[in-house]
Amino acid sequence: MGNLSSLLVIPNFIFLFFFKSSFGVESITQTQSLNDGKTLVSSEGSFELGFFSPGSSKNRYLGIWYKSIPVKTVVWVANRISPINDSSGSLMINNTGSLLLLSQNKMVVWSTNSSRQAQNPLLQLLDSGNLVLRDEKNANPEDYLWQSFDYPTDTLLAGMKLGWDLRRGLNRRLTAWKNRDDPSPGDFTFELELYSYPESYIWKGSVKYYRTGPWNGIGTSGAPSFKPNQLYEYKFVSNEDEVYYTYNLKNKAMKTMAVLNQSNYAPFQRCVWLESEKTWETYSASPKDHCDSYNLCGANGNCLMTESPVCQCLKGFKPKSQKNWELMDWAQGCERNTPLSCQDKYKDGFVKYVGLKVPDTTHSWVNISMNLKECRVKCLNNCSCMAYTNTDIRGRGSGCVIWFGDLLDIRQFPTGGQTLYIRMQASELELGDGRKKRMAAIVVASVAVVSGMLLVSYYICSRKRLKEKSLLIGQNREVQEEDMELPVLDLSTISRATDGFSVANKLGEGGFGPVYRGVLADGQEVAVKRLSRISGQGPNEFRNEVKLIAKLQHRNLVKLLGCCIEGEEKMLVYEYMPNKSLDSFLFDQTRGRVLDWSKRFQIICGIARGLLYLHQDSRLRIIHRDLKASNVLLDSELKPKISDFGMAKTFGGDQTEGNTNRVVGTYGYMAPEYAFDGLFSTKSDVFSFGILLLEIVSGKKSRGLYNQDHSLNLIGYAWKLWNEVRPLDLLDACLGDSVSMSELLRCVHVSLLCVQQRPEDRPGMSSVVLMLGSEIELPQPKEPGFLMEKYSRETFSSTSYKYESSSTNEISNSILEAR
Ligand SMILES: *[C@@H]1O[C@H](CO)[C@@H](O)[C@H](O)[C@H]1NC(C)=O
Ligand SMILES: *[C@@H]1O[C@H](CO)[C@@H](O)[C@H](O)[C@H]1NC(C)=O
Ligand SMILES: *[C@@H]1O[C@H](CO)[C@@H](O)[C@H](O)[C@H]1NC(C)=O
Ligand SMILES: *[C@@H]1O[C@H](CO)[C@@H](O)[C@H](O)[C@H]1NC(C)=O
Ligand SMILES: *[C@@H]1O[C@H](CO)[C@@H](O)[C@H](O)[C@H]1NC(C)=O
Ligand SMILES: *[C@@H]1O[C@H](CO)[C@@H](O)[C@H](O)[C@H]1NC(C)=O
Repeated sequence: MGNLSSLLVIPNFIFLFFFKSSFGVESITQTQSLNDGKTLVSSEGSFELGFFSPGSSKNRYLGIWYKSIPVKTVVWVANRISPINDSSGSLMINNTGSLLLLSQNKMVVWSTNSSRQAQNPLLQLLDSGNLVLRDEKNANPEDYLWQSFDYPTDTLLAGMKLGWDLRRGLNRRLTAWKNRDDPSPGDFTFELELYSYPESYIWKGSVKYYRTGPWNGIGTSGAPSFKPNQLYEYKFVSNEDEVYYTYNLKNKAMKTMAVLNQSNYAPFQRCVWLESEKTWETYSASPKDHCDSYNLCGANGNCLMTESPVCQCLKGFKPKSQKNWELMDWAQGCERNTPLSCQDKYKDGFVKYVGLKVPDTTHSWVNISMNLKECRVKCLNNCSCMAYTNTDIRGRGSGCVIWFGDLLDIRQFPTGGQTLYIRMQASELELGDGRKKRMAAIVVASVAVVSGMLLVSYYICSRKRLKEKSLLIGQNREVQEEDMELPVLDLSTISRATDGFSVANKLGEGGFGPVYRGVLADGQEVAVKRLSRISGQGPNEFRNEVKLIAKLQHRNLVKLLGCCIEGEEKMLVYEYMPNKSLDSFLFDQTRGRVLDWSKRFQIICGIARGLLYLHQDSRLRIIHRDLKASNVLLDSELKPKISDFGMAKTFGGDQTEGNTNRVVGTYGYMAPEYAFDGLFSTKSDVFSFGILLLEIVSGKKSRGLYNQDHSLNLIGYAWKLWNEVRPLDLLDACLGDSVSMSELLRCVHVSLLCVQQRPEDRPGMSSVVLMLGSEIELPQPKEPGFLMEKYSRETFSSTSYKYESSSTNEISNSILEAR
């Protein structure tokens, strides 16, 4: 063991706070060891090797970090799967030249393996961040016995290689940390696959997540923006011994790294250190956009960010399932309109595409000596060949790659990208004379058919509208608005029914007071709402108001059975709902499963009808002002009934908007204009309904935070998914296959219309009911209110508020895409 006592004059605690201090050693030999608290510094002071504890963890790890940066940035970890749980760790070199990391009792928690013996092994940290073990006796200083660059953690520094050493069977790949506190391997890995035409993938577990595309001589096919520039030199090396990707800095003063991060959003990030701001700035992230999601459009599909929806079939192909394709479920992909001739290869030709990311190369074949003409013939001679192009696009292009089977993960770039020749039956390519005539006949015929169809669809639509109307009328008929007498119960009856308002009978506490379960003398179960005493209403005023509320009767409203006024006490007696409120199902893992999709959809439609009735169909115009999941009760058949309506304020029929000093309602459901300015209207209820709709679909609470950097609430998250054309990702994970995608999509769409920032943009409840129950076309939603968690006036008043900074794009445009 080493004798370091002379070096250990600095107490450990100083290192805890000043890891930047320069009291490090410069190399370690066989007679020394590096104990916890000591560090090894690179020759020019850029990096430091030592022991550290990540985030809030107490575990100790041996790692390398930037020494010259005030933000502790760990770029390599030795014992990521075997932490040391105290500060007894030490690093040493044993007699045969292996690095050993020892914990208490000299237990080896991590070691290196060298195939060669060394006489005078020496451990050094190079200024590149590479920890190397070499033999002092060896004349060649670059002949390492071992180097940390061969065993990357999650960070790719300049000069590191991502890929294979074929002689040693060494695969250098990145693996994300599990989380900030735990460097052990997470789900994401980034590695180079040795296909005929090699390319790198980000894997999430065993599933492909993102593909860089193969090297085309200038860059990777999937990232045309990474071109030669003044800052970096990208390199791809492929020979008998090695296949790897690497980059080097032209300006050594720049601090930059690429990190694979355990994040679903953009796991691979390239960052640069901004000295003036003292932060790492991410200037590029992969996947970069929706079309970068691996194989988003399925086999033979093409992803175009400029189109909406983004997926299209390649020319000459059609969706395998038209129905799913229209629902933006693209997984099945596309198939040929006309099968290939194959036997008679002269009947096949190729469609030329430009500006593509070339397909997944898993099933490909390469010959770098062939030219494009030979490549075409090679492809025509094999029935399973579907496409070909040059392997190297420099100059006029060279080399040949051909693809077999379905073409996967193609996307179209607006600029840059590559040419691809896709095989096609000749009849799909050009129209011969005879075919043109036939086409003309078909066109005439189809015009006739189309006009016929238009007539039919008009008929269907108007019938649908009629049906819709009669549905609404039907509801009206169910409603009886006679002036009936409301039973008034006395306090003693209610007290008896609720066991003297016992705690055991308390069902909950609403905005207006506690609610108790009670059983009347005739055995009927009731819910008693004991109103708080603050209301300041006289008994007559209260009785009149209650009578009005009692007139509101609809199958989606909780029925008021009676009331009680005695002295200071005011109480409302409702029918009892055994299944409690909607939130007790939605936000509960097990109970959530009880509500399958068809039940949820019924609930959504029921709430919409109940609210429509309050807004419009009752003789009174009622604005609920506190619509939320806990105010929707479920009866024994899980049919929804809105409760607490008419509590905030009752209106005459034509009053639509009010202003109040006391905002009742619940944050997370309140419309911006109501939360800030106390302005409420039927449209603020529509907003709350939109939120409720999102909660029912997603099973998530509106006030939680859902994207990876925890800045977006449920609306913001839904809006982000909508813009990334992934609205179906919102679906509650506990809903299985039973979901009707079209209903789901419609619900998300309607909810986003309901939560639009400006009240006048939101639909009324009558439109909502119509939209939910029919196939009518829906307008595009505008940006919603409250994207961010914080309810601040700034967020509200600035309509152009964006939830993603645009500075990353600026950097990548101005610096890295320099041509
Ligand atoms: C460290 O953890 C191991 C495994 O859990 C345990 O056996 C050992 O006693 C721990 N050592 C200390 C010092 O806590
Ligand atoms: C040095 O450590 C390596 C790895 O643990 C081990 O295989 C080797 O036997 C050790 N050499 C000696 C001399 O102990
Ligand atoms: C160490 O190297 C030897 C010989 O090269 C090999 O057989 C052994 O599997 C290696 N051990 C580890 C842990 O990599
Ligand atoms: C992933 O990246 C984000 C943003 O750069 C960062 O906040 C987060 O800490 C990273 N996660 C890990 C595990 O490093
Ligand atoms: C590659 O193409 C060249 C030129 O056509 C040819 O001479 C060579 O045999 C081909 N190699 C293979 C493995 O097909
Ligand atoms: C076509 O290519 C496939 C895949 O490389 C190969 O298995 C098959 O033998 C080839 N067929 C012909 C006729 O060359």
